[in-house]
Amino acid sequence: MDKLQNIWIHGDCLKELEKLESESVDLIITSPPYHNLRVYSNDPADLSNCETYEEYYYLLSLVIEECHRVLKPAGKFVIQFEDYNYTLGRDGKRGKESLVGEINQIFLNKQFTLWTEVIWHKYTPQRAMLSDGALWFRNLKNRDTQVAANWGYVYVYRKEGEAEQIQGADITLEDWATWADGVWHISNSGIGHTTPFAEELVRRIIKLWSMPGDTVLDPFAGAGTVNHVAIKNKRNAIGIELKKEFYDLAIEKRFSTYTDDDFKLTYTKEDVTASFLKEKEMAEQGKENAKREAEEKKQLRKQKKDIREEIKELELQLQALGLKKSEIIKLKKGVTVND
Ligand SMILES: C[S@@+](CC[C@H](N)C(=O)[O-])C[C@H]1O[C@@H](n2cnc3c(N)ncnc32)[C@H](O)[C@@H]1O
Repeated sequence: MDKLQNIWIHGDCLKELEKLESESVDLIITSPPYHNLRVYSNDPADLSNCETYEEYYYLLSLVIEECHRVLKPAGKFVIQFEDYNYTLGRDGKRGKESLVGEINQIFLNKQFTLWTEVIWHKYTPQRAMLSDGALWFRNLKNRDTQVAANWGYVYVYRKEGEAEQIQGADITLEDWATWADGVWHISNSGIGHTTPFAEELVRRIIKLWSMPGDTVLDPFAGAGTVNHVAIKNKRNAIGIELKKEFYDLAIEKRFSTYTDDDFKLTYTKEDVTASFLKEKEMAEQGKENAKREAEEKKQLRKQKKDIREEIKELELQLQALGLKKSEIIKLKKGVTVND
């Protein structure tokens, strides 16, 4: 049985990504640091320490370029981020910073295609705007209102090329009924990091865009949410995190609890495909059976109708021969048609 690998790297992702083989990763999931929003560490390599927006976007584009190199053809890069509100104290102005345009352009420049999008609805407006139990109602300024920033983007980019086409995924029909919705309502909670991923968010991404035994990478890995969820769902994981405190936290809170069983690839992509096809066959068989039963019922109804008409005809003939209704009823006792 194959053994899964959990590779956990402390360092600058720009340097560490260079050490990874080209076309060795099936899926990348990350939420990047932002320029000037929240500083994670004093390390000069920390992207949240950039002097200017230009420098930030330039470094981010280098990371995306390296990620493109390590991804397999048709591999997906899922990036989670949000536009954010300026504050007078930090930015000297009010309004919103939009990252979508810049980030999307970088991906397009690096030969990715925007493949699909999800809105991650993280929490209620009450949680985002609670003040005096009234959603900032008493702070409302007519004509200058801002609504809650309680959601984020999940953009899925696809590297060019073709991959082995695999039918199915290791999810249920019930999962799909919820996940096919372009808005995911998932409570934003995670361990000891200022901006953790919700495990459920990562689980959905991993299950939708990778298979058991695949390799999943997070270049800005924080407290190791992607590694953790990947291993728990039978994928190999590679995480790179610059800040030692977060790097150690992941080991202490997550990886140190693993047993040998966590690393066993107990089901493979072949198993997933086989059970998906079986389920599909059963669903198709069920549809066929239902169609046949409906056809049989229709035939039966037609036969009953024909018989009733024949009886009516006979009754008329008997009446014409002079038989009374009561005599006909007596005769009919031997011929009963149920509805
Ligand atoms: C938005 S957080 C990611 C949180 C993560 N998704 C989680 O669930 O814990 C961004 C992370 O990128 C890290 N970081 C910043 N610059 C980095 C770099 N050059 N290389 C690797 N990590 C970096 C920060 O320390 C921070 O932990």
